[in-house]
Amino acid sequence: MPEQQQYIVVERDEPIAVVTINRPDKLNALNWGLVAELADQLEALDRDDAIRCIVLTGAGNKAFAAGADIAEMSNATPVQMATGSFQSWDRIRRIATPIIAAVGGYALGGGNELAMHADMIVASENAQFGQPEILIGVMPGAGGTQRLARTLGKFRAMEICLTARRVSAQEALDWGLVNRVVPEGQHVEEAKRLAQEVAKQAPVAVRFIKEAVLAAYETPLQDGLAYEKRLFALLFATEDQKEGMRAFLAKEKPTFQGR
Ligand code: HXC
Repeated sequence: MPEQQQYIVVERDEPIAVVTINRPDKLNALNWGLVAELADQLEALDRDDAIRCIVLTGAGNKAFAAGADIAEMSNATPVQMATGSFQSWDRIRRIATPIIAAVGGYALGGGNELAMHADMIVASENAQFGQPEILIGVMPGAGGTQRLARTLGKFRAMEICLTARRVSAQEALDWGLVNRVVPEGQHVEEAKRLAQEVAKQAPVAVRFIKEAVLAAYETPLQDGLAYEKRLFALLFATEDQKEGMRAFLAKEKPTFQGR
């Protein structure tokens, strides 16, 4: 049975879960309550050992999310904006379980930033990515300038943020912003398939890999290499390392326990 809060629907299909932003009449615009609820639900799944990978998507075929809620923001004070949802965005950033965004339709502004909080992105052919904040007199605020610059490089990030140009699914694929593009409407199924692939791997190694790849954004190479080496060595304390290598040598399939 899907579990439904006000804005977020969670469907558990162990070892994966599908989290759906359910505000299609407003193209899944991200108000503060919605982002807090999303962080609550993702954290609950993150604490749950039975869930190994999460698919994040938006209800309806028009949008993943069309950005932060402009109606809510329009009269906000700087203090409200500084406190409003940033704590929730930080909580989403710290989820250790891999997240795959399944994007159909618009991923704009905070919607694109949310997709970039995921670890992989599967796009439907009708997906459109962009940072249109400049059109309403502001700028990206949940990581758009930083993650686009790191993912696409300075020049494409500048064009997207300075001109509000929308990037099609195919361009996003060519530019390295998404992992794969599928026919319209098949993005959630494809993301679920990919999530099952991740979910069958050794769980502790999966979490360490996410942690190590994300560390590459925040550390100089030398520190990142040292960090990776320590995590790698630590995996030799797990039963799954013994099982994985035993099974390889015995020409069997491993059974991972997540310990
Ligand atoms: C609030 C929104 C919304 C948004 C759409 N809606 N986007 N409401 N905030 N970001 C609402 C519309 O008001 C409308 O409500 C309904 O959703 C359907 O949208 P339409 O505009 O009628 O649809 P359409 O003509 O198909 O145009 C789709 C669209 C357009 C191109 C995506 O809606 C649009 O430009 N939206 C805004 C995109 C944007 O600027 N995003 C960035 C926001 S700033 P009604 O009640 O009239 O039916 C941001 C900063 C992030 O994200 C900072 C992080 C904290």
